[in-house]
Amino acid sequence: MCGIFAYLNYLTPKKREEILELLVNGLKRLEYRGYDSAGVAVDSAEAKDISIIKKSGKVALLAEEIKNRSDELNMGVTVDVHCGIAHTRWATHGVPNEINSHPQRSDLQNSFVVVHNGIITNYKEVKVFLEKKGHHFESDTDTEIIAKLIYHFHQQHPNFSFRELVEHVVQQLEGAYALCFKSKYFPGECVATRRGSPLLVGIKTRTRLATDHVPILYGKDADSNPEHRPHGRGEFPTLPRTGSTSEFEPLEDKQVEYFFASDASAIIEHTNRVIYFEDDDVAAVKNGSLSIHRIRRAGDDPQKREITTLKMELQQIMKGNYDFFMQKEIFEQPESVINTMRGRLNFENGTVTLGGIKDYIPEIKRCRRLMLIGCGTSYHSAIATRQLLEELTELPVMVELASDFLDRTTPVFRDDVCFFISQSGETADTLMALRYCKLRGALIVGITNTVGSSICRESHCGVHINAGPEIGVASTKAYTSQFISLVMFALVMSEDRLSLRQRRQEIIDGLKNLQNQIRDVLKLDNKVKSLAEDLYKKKSLLIMGRGYNFATCLEGALKVKELTYMHSEGIMAGELKHGPLALVDETMPVMMIIMRDPVYTKCMNALQQVTAREGKPILICEENDKETISYSQKYLEIPRTVDCLQGILTVIPMQLLSFHIAVLKGCNVDCPRNLAKSVTVE
Ligand code: F6R
Repeated sequence: MCGIFAYLNYLTPKKREEILELLVNGLKRLEYRGYDSAGVAVDSAEAKDISIIKKSGKVALLAEEIKNRSDELNMGVTVDVHCGIAHTRWATHGVPNEINSHPQRSDLQNSFVVVHNGIITNYKEVKVFLEKKGHHFESDTDTEIIAKLIYHFHQQHPNFSFRELVEHVVQQLEGAYALCFKSKYFPGECVATRRGSPLLVGIKTRTRLATDHVPILYGKDADSNPEHRPHGRGEFPTLPRTGSTSEFEPLEDKQVEYFFASDASAIIEHTNRVIYFEDDDVAAVKNGSLSIHRIRRAGDDPQKREITTLKMELQQIMKGNYDFFMQKEIFEQPESVINTMRGRLNFENGTVTLGGIKDYIPEIKRCRRLMLIGCGTSYHSAIATRQLLEELTELPVMVELASDFLDRTTPVFRDDVCFFISQSGETADTLMALRYCKLRGALIVGITNTVGSSICRESHCGVHINAGPEIGVASTKAYTSQFISLVMFALVMSEDRLSLRQRRQEIIDGLKNLQNQIRDVLKLDNKVKSLAEDLYKKKSLLIMGRGYNFATCLEGALKVKELTYMHSEGIMAGELKHGPLALVDETMPVMMIIMRDPVYTKCMNALQQVTAREGKPILICEENDKETISYSQKYLEIPRTVDCLQGILTVIPMQLLSFHIAVLKGCNVDCPRNLAKSVTVE
């Protein structure tokens, strides 16, 4: 929810035009996180004040606005030191208009400006306090209180450093936030902090870094400790030593650029060296040095933040030959499923090793039950694999929507193992549920796609699904990779069970063939497109199935809803006669998934119930299944795999169908209305 991007160049001359372009490009990379409105704050042309440029709508409109104001912004001027902050918004408080866009400001002079991702839950109380102090609010946002509060503290403590002011502010905030601040009183400085929302910094230096970490300083007095003064241990970069004459490189080697961002996709084109911030870190850049301070929770936290080298490639976050990210991600699935299995599944000897959880397997085997918790598509991957997990682990498996799980204050015990499934690793509901279970002593297993995400860091152990960056807001390749990760877990849990040897082998063989079979399914694209042409003017689409393919119905319906704004419902075929059958007549579009698995006969019953009411279902069925095909004019034939993996193949036509309907309807495929990729608010 919302994307933050900030860029600070220190002794690295840049034209103002380049800086603005860099900020706008950073926002474009983050646009999937929110696209209601966008804004930037940079030094004013005379560098004495701050200019804010905001625009409702997509980042492209902001770019246009900047172009229109290029004279006033003095684009040709080069600056050696500068800090710019930028934001793309997914509205929570206040409609998406320019006033409510970020950066939010402290006063009419733009003394302090801030960009925020998250929600401040106590903003009303703080607002009342600030109004009593004479501050006038202009927006409906919760964020504005942050800009005004820091200004208030600055007026009270004019000698405080920028970092100290931010530390004072965040002590007053409740809720979730990642924040980046800029101030006309602290030119060339940037302070950023997080609690519950993701934030990282990318570091680009001309010379190799002499250190692979930044030490953490605890408490508010870190600045006053002479040990931590410039060039001391709390600063970054520590410059390379040059023999005995001088301890540090000459000044020009201090050239450094910092990129603060909500996620790595926005900075990978500039640097692959990043630090992921932890909750309550306050990172300050001053005189080109980065220091990280820790507030509230000094204690069991590590003493330093490692600099991580990103493995992500730029091309992974580009559209390549595709028109849309979602389309690219659907077509990447033959490779992404292999990446999920790579180094884990040995097809020769039938062994599966999940390095991230292997030490915990004995404990997991002793547990009372498995709980799989997630939201949206990630929740569907749990539904898709529950039956196999029950079969191969012989443990009770509960599947829970994170939000509902929390609403119910579900009983959780020390001997429960709780899986948190999340593409982004940042979904607030899932993260809250994780913390809830951790507090009750359960073992926490994360299944995520985003290295360094909150769910990764807060889990005891986990599986990284390795699907590669997923930029399209609608999740596609992450689903199939989550699915496979959970299947591999089931295989690990059953490796010493003789009675399951044959079953395990057929699943492993199925996984081996998956890549080619996915390629075959993708060849149906044109056929799916012509089905989309029949469907895109309809009002509703029912998707029916049961057993291993019920999850495909739910996931297919979710894809159709979010991408095409058309009503769609995934219906458990066994429930038809308990109500949904009333919807069926000759006009109602219906899809049915009927594979030759243990529930085939029951699915055929459902098909007959539908056709008996004049329904004309489009079938997703097995290749060459003449009998099933004879029931309909319209069908998609899918290669057969082992029953428990069939859902990976049946979901792909649904991904394609939703995509084509969205294109035909002129909907924004990668950024559906009202949605955002990473839902970091409850
Ligand atoms: C649907 C979709 C969402 C997400 C849900 C959870 O296409 O993308 O339903 O699956 O918001 O997100 P993650 O997996 O990041 O926790």
